[in-house]
This record gives sequence, C-alpha cells and structure tokens, in this order.
Amino acid sequence: MKALKDPANRQSDLITIHSRSVEHPLQVTIMVNVRFLPDDIVVTAAPGEPLLQVARRGGQSIPTGCLRGSCHACVVESDCWGTICACITAIPDHDLCIELWNDPTW
Ligand code: FES
Repeated sequence: MKALKDPANRQSDLITIHSRSVEHPLQVTIMVNVRFLPDDIVVTAAPGEPLLQVARRGGQSIPTGCLRGSCHACVVESDCWGTICACITAIPDHDLCIELWNDPTW
C-alpha cells in the first residue's frame, strides 16, 4: 500500500496500463458476405466498406452517375433495406443480398 501512495510509483503504474492497452487493442474485425444476384456472386467485405467498391471487387457492374445519391443511376434492391442507391451505401455488420437490375435505359 505504501508504494501506491508514492507519486513516482503511481506514474509508472499509469504508464504500464497505457502501454498494455496499445499492445493489446480490443479490435475485432468482422467480415460479412455480400451476395450479388442474379449472378450469385458472393464477396467478403468489411462493415462500412462502400457497396460500389465491394461490387467492383466481385466483378459486378453497377452503373453510376452523380455518385451523390441524386440521379438514382445506381439503384439496386437489397434484402434488408429494399431499394437503395449503391453509391451512398456502406456494408452493414451482417450478411447482405443485393439484386442488380439490368436497366437498358442507363
Ligand atoms: S450514382 Fe447517382 S444516385 Fe448513385
């Protein structure tokens, strides 16, 4: 107990605690599966990753225009959110299924 009251020892305890948290960060990387239909291509992605980037990695083409959520050129159908603009959508923390539409007018 006497050692804890000594300011010099207290400072060294704080430094030790800080360095432990840096050495062992509590980060867990969760990966999810994104299934693209109708080709039935499954791509592994990290939550928060842009949907367009994941689609591109899987060789899936989603048309784009404004890339700001206004023109709706990138509209796809998702199993959990319904119709969404792919350009402003990030991967959630659970598996996702995306139906790509093939609209010949775009
Ligand atoms: S590219 Fe225009 S809304 Fe997505």
